[in-house]
Amino acid sequence: MSKKQQVSRRQFLNYTLTGVGGFMAAGMLAPMVRFAVDPVLQPGEAGDFIATGTEVSSISKTPTRVDFSYEQVDAWYKSTVSKTAWVYRNEQDDIVALSPICKHLGCIVEWKSEGEHANQYFCPCHGGLYRKNGDNVEGTPPLAPLDQYKIDTRDGILYLGEIVPNREVK
Ligand code: FES
Repeated sequence: MSKKQQVSRRQFLNYTLTGVGGFMAAGMLAPMVRFAVDPVLQPGEAGDFIATGTEVSSISKTPTRVDFSYEQVDAWYKSTVSKTAWVYRNEQDDIVALSPICKHLGCIVEWKSEGEHANQYFCPCHGGLYRKNGDNVEGTPPLAPLDQYKIDTRDGILYLGEIVPNREVK
């Protein structure tokens, strides 16, 4: 055997200790890495429906403000998210829940039951107007209808899901 191919006792010990040390370090680090990364790998809550506390039987043809909230876990940070919807029954008696977020620059619109903008959603930021079904009124800043929430009902209670494009405006 040539001298080049021989492994000295010192080298053998170095290789062995490095290998064992690396194995042990990996064993200790793996749970730490998993703990740190795990929240990020958890599936999101997209598609979930949130109970609003509003009884389906109380929903009328007049848009009514519904406020609801839920706990959101964003990686390591837990927070309470508050949402609002304008909820009414359309001509087919289906429940509609519109997002209040103005399609111009994102202010919050209000349903006006009387006054200058009666029976329209009014955006106080730049005077945006929308019809009852969320359709934007021409000549005002918004260029698209209000979005709407996906809807579910369980045990007579209204549940709202993700926000989707408006399907009421034909
Ligand atoms: S943000 Fe609503 S009109 Fe501008």
